[in-house]
Amino acid sequence: MGYDAKFKVWRGDTEGGELQDFTVLVNEGEVVLDIIHRLQATQAPDLAVRWNCKAGKCGSCSAEVNGRPRLLCMTRMSTFTPDEVVTVTPMRTFPVIRDLVTDVSFNYQKAREVPSFTPPVDLKPGDYRMQQADVERSQEFRKCIECFLCQNTCHVVRDHEDNKQAFSGPRYLMRIAELEMHPLDVADRRDLAQEDAGLGLCNITKCCTEVCPEHIKITDNALIPMKERVVDRKYDPIVWLGNKLFRR
Ligand code: SF4
Ligand code: F3S
Ligand code: FES
Repeated sequence: MGYDAKFKVWRGDTEGGELQDFTVLVNEGEVVLDIIHRLQATQAPDLAVRWNCKAGKCGSCSAEVNGRPRLLCMTRMSTFTPDEVVTVTPMRTFPVIRDLVTDVSFNYQKAREVPSFTPPVDLKPGDYRMQQADVERSQEFRKCIECFLCQNTCHVVRDHEDNKQAFSGPRYLMRIAELEMHPLDVADRRDLAQEDAGLGLCNITKCCTEVCPEHIKITDNALIPMKERVVDRKYDPIVWLGNKLFRR
């Protein structure tokens, strides 16, 4: 059975905007993105929303529903009671382009700052066999669909625009950890993580992990192990002596 739902949708652009009220039909089994599409079809043809797969796999439709970072295509209307007002706003951490579409280029910039996979120079194809445990470790991180919900949620940048320069965010700290833990990667990424990517700013609140639609254990499996590696190095007496002697 369908019903009429009350929606508030943020409309605006770089100059500013406001929530607009809509009453819109909801059918059984629909998700929030269906309702946004119905709004476009019936009441607001110029409403901007980014989407692609409608299957939780392209990472395009990230926004905030009732203040919670969500994929619009994976948020079922049955989550809400029929009399509940559903508020849809753009991701807060990134600049708005128009309506529900934000400029996520911060993330592309941070991706470019991570040096690529660095295998030993003399390694020939077929020379190396990886352990299954190593394969599985990076496969978890590779499930990332780049929705940037974790980047949007982390309080280090969500409420502190000025931290963006010094902090790569959970998605790219996870990428650094993935490469650091890769048995074939010979680059030492610990200084990069700590000094350039702002690992020290992460205080393990785990909000990133909570919003990840791929259920990647970002904090437990990437950020905390990476912090342990950085600390191990700092307190390693040989490294300490080397730093004293050669890094003045
Ligand atoms: Fe999205 Fe999860 Fe990837 Fe972050 S780690 S960008 S929340 S899929
Ligand atoms: Fe931010 Fe996740 Fe750390 S939310 S503070 S990166 S645990
Ligand atoms: Fe692809 Fe939602 S439209 S993840």
